[in-house]
Amino acid sequence: VLDIRKLYAQADVFTYDPGFTSTASCDSTITFIDGDKGELLHRGYPIDQLAEKSHYLEVCYLLLYGELPSSGELEKFENTITRHTMLHEQMQYFFRGFRRDAHPMATMVGVVGAMSAFYHDSTDISDNSQREIASHRLIAKMPTIAAWAYKYSIGQPFVYPRNDLSYAANFLHMCFSVPAEPYHVNPILSRAMDRIFTLHADHEQNASTSTVRLASSSGANPFACIAAGIACLWGPAHGGANQACLEMLKEIGSPDKIPEYIARAKDKNDPFRLMGFGHRVYKNFDPRATVMKQSADEVLDLLGVENNPVLATAKELEKQALADDYFSEKKLFPNVDFYSGIILEAMGFPTSMFTPIFALSRTVGWVSQWKEQLADPHHRIGRPRQLYRGHTLRDYTDIENR
Ligand code: ACO
Repeated sequence: VLDIRKLYAQADVFTYDPGFTSTASCDSTITFIDGDKGELLHRGYPIDQLAEKSHYLEVCYLLLYGELPSSGELEKFENTITRHTMLHEQMQYFFRGFRRDAHPMATMVGVVGAMSAFYHDSTDISDNSQREIASHRLIAKMPTIAAWAYKYSIGQPFVYPRNDLSYAANFLHMCFSVPAEPYHVNPILSRAMDRIFTLHADHEQNASTSTVRLASSSGANPFACIAAGIACLWGPAHGGANQACLEMLKEIGSPDKIPEYIARAKDKNDPFRLMGFGHRVYKNFDPRATVMKQSADEVLDLLGVENNPVLATAKELEKQALADDYFSEKKLFPNVDFYSGIILEAMGFPTSMFTPIFALSRTVGWVSQWKEQLADPHHRIGRPRQLYRGHTLRDYTDIENR
């Protein structure tokens, strides 16, 4: 790696790299991706092993602190997270200020940003212990925020967290319990939920993580930075893709319509793209998609919906796209979003909740990257350059002469 900053500054030149396809914005020890091999490692551990043998809160610890925890360390961490799941009671009024039909992501951007107005004792980024509390608060409270955004949107009362449940089971409880009818969390479903969280936990310098880092580079407080990440994740080319993918599968409707949609995706005059296909970094199978596919089979099997038309369409679409030269030449493979939407829908989530679930899963990644950035003695405010293509110097024209 060539540190070209000084050379470029001396020569007064800069790189022009729209979309940052070949520019590293930081150095990091958290996550490694080899897009050609289809490999994803967190602190050196492959994602398929973590998804199989570990669970979300252990992966959170790994991402935050760099090593797998001992059993004592894990117990302490889980207790800490569990103790921070409640939201300040006053925050309920903030939720109630939104329209009922607000997208839960809109509510989350607002509520997470507003946490800085409620938790003053964790906004001083110069204080290590405040950074630590902010990290724990964000990871612990995000499921409550996402679940409450959902409950509010469907007109049901907020359900308080239950600290005797696992992280994933508690989230399902807060989403699906109603006062008269507590939701019994099936362990297969909470395991599938936990896997979705784990598979989305971090993905190095993607758009939303880079947004968090850029916001943080100015010294902004952690809640403002994570709110910025949520806003960026919302877009359909990023976190909104699983919602867009499921909507596309439903629009296709049945396997016999697939050739028509594949033809549209290949037509350069048609802006349509196959949602859930392609990735900026993976030019091979997304390793998370493989685990997600297994999880989808398990969940659909449990729920007795193996003849689900959406799944049948998804499976056939995958088969036909992979056999098509256009997709193989451009190295477009199914990504993690291709199957996650199917699992979430089978669990009973509306499509509008797919991206909020991604946001809550990714919070630990954002927080870990934020902490790493603040601990880096070389970090400085992010200030991209531009290639100016506008007018050269010209004189102001008075309005009567224009
Ligand atoms: N369907 C059809 N063609 C596609 C697709 C697709 N899903 N994705 C890329 N292409 C084509 C482009 O048209 C382009 O063709 P060209 O070279 O003839 O112009 C070529 O493949 C390269 O595409 P780019 O947009 O330049 O690739 P980029 O790396 O910028 O984009 C992205 C990656 C945004 C993910 C893209 O593949 C896409 O839009 N996919 C669909 C949305 C999606 O699934 N997003 C989820 C990403 S994963 C995540 O956020 C967790």
